[in-house]
Amino acid sequence: MTTAEGTGVWAVLVAAGRGERFGVDRPKAFANLNGRPLLAESLERLEASGWVEALVVVAPEEWEEPSILLAEELGAGKVHAAVTGGATRADSVRAGLAEVPAETAVVVVHDAARPLLPEDVLERVVTALGEGWDGAVPALPLADTIKRGDGEAVVETVDRAGLYAAQTPQAFLADTLRRAVAGARDATDCAGFVEAAGGRVRLVEGDRRLLKVTTPADLELVETLLRAEG
Ligand code: CTP
Ligand code: MG
Repeated sequence: MTTAEGTGVWAVLVAAGRGERFGVDRPKAFANLNGRPLLAESLERLEASGWVEALVVVAPEEWEEPSILLAEELGAGKVHAAVTGGATRADSVRAGLAEVPAETAVVVVHDAARPLLPEDVLERVVTALGEGWDGAVPALPLADTIKRGDGEAVVETVDRAGLYAAQTPQAFLADTLRRAVAGARDATDCAGFVEAAGGRVRLVEGDRRLLKVTTPADLELVETLLRAEG
């Protein structure tokens, strides 16, 4: 077990989604990835990270205990708690943040649905904070031509210059994130809350391996990438 004591960085690993688009008999975080739950992959990587001091797993209702057992099996001693998530991702983030000690400087929020978490992305988001930045988001520039549609009709081609696909892990000054998610605003990622609250969020280089598992085909791709990593 690696310890990252003194970094002042806590991670919130959100795994409480139902996985409706994935469509199996259990939550997506517990779908089978090379013989173990999908959640194991990101949990193990956060545990091994030199940037993360402790972490909170946000689990689906009735999957808190299996999450703790999984952490024990993996020897993931940094796992402080497994708490029950909420109806939306934002509710799940709030539930996780409630377990993060008040004096914590930095919080990293990561989707369990993105199992292939490279250490250098964690480094980039954490070290991007400070100097006036409230948050940092790994992102990739869009490669495809982007169309706006209305039903089956193309309305226009959107200029893709300056457009990015945002990933997780996203890092934030903990107090800023707490204040931003406490508000009534709506956003699909944590950075969206911080932006809406007037915070300054920095773009850092993302990684193709951080693809989000949405469908079984995505999981197959992750399995292939994992084998290639060795
Ligand atoms: N998530 C969560 N709590 C929710 C919804 C989502 O913790 N109420 C987490 C998911 O577990 C996932 C991440 O947020 O790790 C991104 O969500 P998504 O990929 O949309 O997963 P699901 O919501 O589970 O999938 P779907 O939208 O197909 O139901
Ligand atoms: Mg969802």
